[in-house]
Amino acid sequence: MWDYSEKVLELFYNPINQGTIDDPAEPDVAVVFGEVGSIACGDALRLHLKIQPSTDSILDARFQTFGCTSAIASSSALTEIIKGRTLDEALHITNQDIADFLGGLPEAKMHCSVMGQEALEAAIYKYRGIEVEHHDDDEGTLVCACYGITEKKIRRAIAENDLTTVEQVTNYVKAGGGCGSCLANIEDLIVDAQESAETVRAAAELAVAREQRSQEAAAPTPLTNLQKITLIQQVIDKEVRPILIADGGDVSLHDVEGDRVLVKLQGACGSCASSTETLKYAIEAKLKDLVLPSLVVEAI
Ligand code: FES
Repeated sequence: MWDYSEKVLELFYNPINQGTIDDPAEPDVAVVFGEVGSIACGDALRLHLKIQPSTDSILDARFQTFGCTSAIASSSALTEIIKGRTLDEALHITNQDIADFLGGLPEAKMHCSVMGQEALEAAIYKYRGIEVEHHDDDEGTLVCACYGITEKKIRRAIAENDLTTVEQVTNYVKAGGGCGSCLANIEDLIVDAQESAETVRAAAELAVAREQRSQEAAAPTPLTNLQKITLIQQVIDKEVRPILIADGGDVSLHDVEGDRVLVKLQGACGSCASSTETLKYAIEAKLKDLVLPSLVVEAI
């Protein structure tokens, strides 16, 4: 006896959205179906969609299935998940989303969720005028002749579900579940996928390390207190004082306390009504720009 979740049993005993959709021949409504599997293989699913072309969204979804408990529950789950979605959103739904909706599926029954995902893609491709046999998954080298499963389909199942064993591949797409002559080839595809994933992971880690190194190299080294004071003095002497002196004023650096720069305004500046502007714009702005943005200038 399979260990089914309560949701799977609920949707098996009381399936929802079972049946077909008649074409109402109304404006802005299209009806299409997609199907996968075959009765000879023990599982078949036909998914019917009612689509609103103006919004590219799914108004209704129904299913007909020939299969086990989890096939019926997965089909009900799929139809509930996709109602109201746009077609592009629906194409992003994975078999894992279907399994999650059901509170999980026994691994040996995961192919039912994969079948739902495939029927959905078949229906949408058909509506969009893309021949299903021209879809990527259906092209490529045939690996499992018993179930007609291609290399691309196996690679996709491995990648999307992190499969690591041949038994898992059989559970997800049925490949290898017949005569067994393709098992070694499936094993090779798993090893190849793991090596590719490792290469991608290593490349990503290298890129992150490089980025961190370049950011560290680009980041300015914090000034020591002595460097900060020396720099402030230089800016005041070379960039500020000549301007103030030309106007009959002057300034001297009194002290630096953290980010507070204490200065003494002299000459015309000391008695000038615009001394606040002098501090802010002539001195503080220069120091913020040339030394540290956090500096604040105060007169004593
Ligand atoms: S060829 Fe794959 S099980 Fe027979």
